[in-house]
Amino acid sequence: MAAVGIPRRALLLAVLLVLVVGVLAGLGRVGWDIPISWQVVGNHGPLMVSGFLGTLIGLERAVGIRRRPAYAVPGLSLAGTLLLLAGATAEVASVLTSLSALGLAAIYFFLARPSTAYFLGVMALGAFMWLGGNVLWGMGRPFAEVAPWWSAFLVLTIAGERLELGRVRRLSAAVLAAFFAAVSILVVGVATTALAFDPGVRVFGAGLLALALWLLRHDLAWRTARIPGLPRYMGVALLLGYAWLAVGGVVALGSGGVYGGPEYDVLLHAVFLGFVMSMVFAHAPVMLPAVAGVTISFTRAFYVPLVLLHGSLALRVVGDLVGSFPSARWGSLFNGAALALFFLVVAGSALIRRRSRR
Ligand code: HEM
Repeated sequence: MAAVGIPRRALLLAVLLVLVVGVLAGLGRVGWDIPISWQVVGNHGPLMVSGFLGTLIGLERAVGIRRRPAYAVPGLSLAGTLLLLAGATAEVASVLTSLSALGLAAIYFFLARPSTAYFLGVMALGAFMWLGGNVLWGMGRPFAEVAPWWSAFLVLTIAGERLELGRVRRLSAAVLAAFFAAVSILVVGVATTALAFDPGVRVFGAGLLALALWLLRHDLAWRTARIPGLPRYMGVALLLGYAWLAVGGVVALGSGGVYGGPEYDVLLHAVFLGFVMSMVFAHAPVMLPAVAGVTISFTRAFYVPLVLLHGSLALRVVGDLVGSFPSARWGSLFNGAALALFFLVVAGSALIRRRSRR
């Protein structure tokens, strides 16, 4: 397996570069003067969801399954993304990202056993949501109609992981039934958006809210937040993320099917930044050593980008909701700064750790 180290790190580096381009594209979308083409700015969404997160999740699964063919999953989503950056159309790029989504679902089915199928099934459902979003994107549907599918991909992937970790709590049948009821409402909402966009987004919002309340009530995060050091940091990042998931649910429930504007920005980024990126911040100290083979020492410095992420998102969301575009714009800029600072803190901690071992 040693030979896999270099391609693995190269994939991870490519994923981080796609993140940088994706964030710059987002900043270009909110009106900052960023020297990149409008073609790239217009593809901020697929860069972030498929290029960065789809490839990262695929890489994490490929490392976990320890089967060389599994690396085709992150390879395909990255290839689709690089083609998109090179000017290919959504039709072409979506074929590769769709194959990646199918491959991801196949990994979950391959891993599933009777005792693990209930949470791997939720993650596989997430992979099919990614597939649905990619197909709609390839068909030329507006991003507003694609976004609920992509949100569901990331939300179900994370919810499935939390359910897996929650096994230690021996959740009762009633608590599990409540989890699957929330997932069902969410999935029915997303599917309905393809037929009736506005009511579908509202039902999807209700599903997000139900899942957020379930996680806030039953997830392990409250327990880990009581243990000092890295567990507390992870617990805090998780709980803040669940709160933003609830905000995204309430806004989707209230605003329904919108194609742009402040509510659109809030229902997207409460989930994508507030929930998903907070999960990335929480898991990276544990996930990166497995994926990149680097050791990270946790320090309180990790709280700085976490506070900046949630503080700047609050500024952006409040700016959106009260109609203060400057607040939304500066909030967005500091969103980007929080992401950059996080990876600097991670890289710095890995370097310090490596030096201390010499
Ligand atoms: C610094 C961080 C970010 C900034 C500045 C940013 C900016 C934006 C802006 C301005 C829009 C258009 C909203 C509108 O039309 O009103 C947008 C849309 C979108 N964003 Fe972000 N975003 C950021 C982070 C993210 C992240 C982390 C993700 C996903 C993981 C994401 C996924 C999307 C998607 C899927 C769309 C919809 C596609 C579209 O309308 O083009 N964004 N973003």
